[in-house]
This record gives sequence, C-alpha cells and structure tokens, in this order.
Amino acid sequence: MEKLMIHGGRPLRGTVQISGAKNSAIALLPAAILAESEVALDNLPHLSDVAVYTEILEELGAKVTWTNGQIKIDPSQIRSIPMPNGPVKKLRASYYMMGAMLGRFGEATIGLPGGCNFEPRPIDQHIKGFEALGATVTNEHGSIHLKAKELRGAKIYLDVCSVGATINIMLAAARAKGSTIIENAAKEPEIIDVATLLNSMGASIKGAGTETIRIEGVKEMSGCRHSIIPDRIQAGTYMIAAAATRGDMIIDGVIPKHLEALTAKLIEMGVTVEEIDESIRVLGAPRYEHIDVKALIYPGFPTDMQSPMTSLLTQAEGVSVLSDFVYSNRFKHVPELVRMGAKIRVEGRSAIIEGGELNAAKVKATDLRAGAALVIAGLTVKEGITEVSGVELIDRGYDNLVTNLRSLGADVWRQAE
Ligand code: EPU
Repeated sequence: MEKLMIHGGRPLRGTVQISGAKNSAIALLPAAILAESEVALDNLPHLSDVAVYTEILEELGAKVTWTNGQIKIDPSQIRSIPMPNGPVKKLRASYYMMGAMLGRFGEATIGLPGGCNFEPRPIDQHIKGFEALGATVTNEHGSIHLKAKELRGAKIYLDVCSVGATINIMLAAARAKGSTIIENAAKEPEIIDVATLLNSMGASIKGAGTETIRIEGVKEMSGCRHSIIPDRIQAGTYMIAAAATRGDMIIDGVIPKHLEALTAKLIEMGVTVEEIDESIRVLGAPRYEHIDVKALIYPGFPTDMQSPMTSLLTQAEGVSVLSDFVYSNRFKHVPELVRMGAKIRVEGRSAIIEGGELNAAKVKATDLRAGAALVIAGLTVKEGITEVSGVELIDRGYDNLVTNLRSLGADVWRQAE
C-alpha cells in the first residue's frame, strides 16, 4: 500500500496531456465481446480499472495484446462461462459484462459488482432493461444470472437517467431481434463513444447523446479500430487544480465542449479560462468569488467533479453552496477536508463551504474522486506535508498522476505506508 505525500503551495504551471476516458474505456472493452473479430482501441488510459477489465476478457478466452497505447482484443474464442468471483468483484463497471454477454450468448452469470462505494448504487434500471428485452434475471448467492432464449427489441423508459443502464441496454440490444427504443436515456459523451464503436462494429444505433436512442438489432458484428474520447473528468480535475494553486496550465488533448459546465463555473468565480482548439488554458487569480454549484446529469455540472470542486471552493471568499442532484450523499471527502482545516458542513444534498486556508494533515481517500479532492487540497497548503492514503483508489482513474503533477511543478511523491 502506498500513500501520496504532498508538499503544497506551488502554483501548477505547464502543459498536461489528457488520456482516453476511463468511463468510456471500461464500457468499450466489454463492447468488444459483441464482435466476431478483432477490435482495436486507441488512446486507452493506463489505469487499474482498465487492467482489471482486460483480466476479465482474458478469463473468458479473449486474446488481448497491448502496443503503445493501443489494445487489440480478439473475441473470436470467447466462451460463455459463469463469472461469480474474481476480477468482476473488483469493479463496479463489470455490470457491462451483463449486457455484453447477454448480447453475444443470450446468457451471463456475473458476481455482483464492486467499485467506488460512496453510497449504495442500485442497478434496477439495467435489470428492467434486460427483462424488457426478454431476459430472465435472478439474483442467487451474490451473483446475477441472466438468460434469454431470444433477445427481442423493446421500448424501455428509464425511470432514472442512468449512464450505466443506457450503455448496458445498448450492448444487449445491439444484436437483439428487432427495434429497441430507450427513452429518458443518459446523454453523457461516453454514451456517444460506445455507440460510435458499436456502429463501427456493424450495429445500427441512432440518437446516442439525446434522450431517445433507437437501436435496430443486427445478426452479426465484426472488428474495427476506434479511438477513445479524452477523459473530461481527468481534464476537469487538472483545470480545478490549476485554479486552486493559482497556476497557469494548458490542458491538452481535450474536447472543450465536454467541459463547458465546469468552464462556466470557473469563470464565474474569477478564473481565466481560454479554449484553444483541443486545449484549454486555465489561469488562476489571487482571489475568487464564492459561487453555487449544482451537480446534475450531463450537460450539467458533473457529479464526478463535485468533490474536486469542493476543494477549490475552500479557496474562494465567502460561503459557497455545492449540491449534488445525482448522488444523495457523495460527501465522504468532506470530513477529510475538515481535518485539513476546511470549514464545510453537509446539509442534505449540499455542502456549505466557507472559504479559508487549509493546513497539512494525514487524510484518507475514500473513493476515486474524493482522493482527487484531497490531492488538490494538499496542493494548496503552503506549509507542511499532506499525506493522502488510499492511493490505489486514485489510481483507478488518474494515470501518471504523480509524473504529471511533478512536471507541472508540484512537490509530490509516493511512499510506502
Ligand atoms: N441509479 C438507479 N438505478 C440504476 C442505475 C442508477 O437508481 O439502475 C441512480 C444512481 O444511484 C445514481 C444515478 O442513478 O443516483 C446515476 O447513476 P448512473 O447509473 O448514471 O451511474 P453509473 O453509470 O453507475 C457512471 C460513472 C460514474 C458517474 C456516474 C454519473 C461509470 C463506470 N461510472 O456511473 O463515475 O459518477 O455515471 O455520471 O461510467 C467515477 O468515475 O468516479 C464515477 C463514479
């Protein structure tokens, strides 16, 4: 086990390159199961979650080869075997194995997914979708069993606008018989990325990125080459870090449109943000105004940037209110920030944040984005060393974090616990 040591107080300056999106990658890898021949994915991030997913695919019999940021998956020899335990338990997004295996084999047995545990995260909308497509779904001994004689297209209205359920239903419906319509679908860019890959593999999916997705089932799908979209959450985290340390950073290799909600909020508080083609420059200021932020489904302010934003708002003057309307209690970073001297209280779905200086402390990352929040907080502390334990959670979503931060001028290092 390692911890991250942060000697803060230095403005982050320079350029950081953003890798492919984690939340796309971990849906694109299982999507490859639906093809009968090799799928190549470019711009794959080097993350522990991605490594776990490749383990899952190999366990099923896929041939996986890596070359310089490209992964090739040959799913032709994949078999339908139950996966009650093993790597599926390490990852919440192993729920995509349900849709992908159901789509390819008409059956799946998958251990209940693990992953970031900031609050109970139900999968009832995924199940509702699979059942509408004709699958029988049972939950026995900690595993979900899915079986369908034949998957048939259906009209599915999602009660909750869920990223995971939208993608999972697309995976299962891509090779179902007939038409599927998903209403109240989630609109996140990662959903468009998955639909783009599936269409390149021969699927017929229209409307991804809108609230109505239409899928015309096809009999067969084949391999292709696809480049993963940039990670907007990783990019946003660096933007927030640049602002929090009053730095001057160019975040390169991004789609600025995906970051509009964050950009607008940063500008509102007094940060200078410039969009230059596929880059964003963030220039910090000596003082920031307090603001209110509401985390919503896309294109609203992302819940995944809510925790890092909490750290930034400790640097603003006055009282800011940050509410999360996606998750009701994603505030495990707050007690840790309070240990660093932050004046924050949680009321219902909101964190009320009073600006002020933070101090060094020993804190614990309780989930991926909470960890990112603590790293940003540590980077603002002028004296002493902040120790962030639970780095393995941060490794799930930020590749080369220490190398990147050091190249931006931060004094950070990893140390055995
Ligand atoms: N929900 C239900 N029922 C369901 C599914 C979701 O009630 O069947 C609720 C959830 O409890 C939550 C809301 O709907 O309140 C949204 O959940 P969603 O299904 O959209 O989340 P997810 O697909 O499980 C993905 C990302 C999360 C990100 C959310 C919201 C992946 C693997 N994960 O999760 O990313 O927070 O969308 O944008 O794509 C992260 O990267 O740190 C992370 C947690």
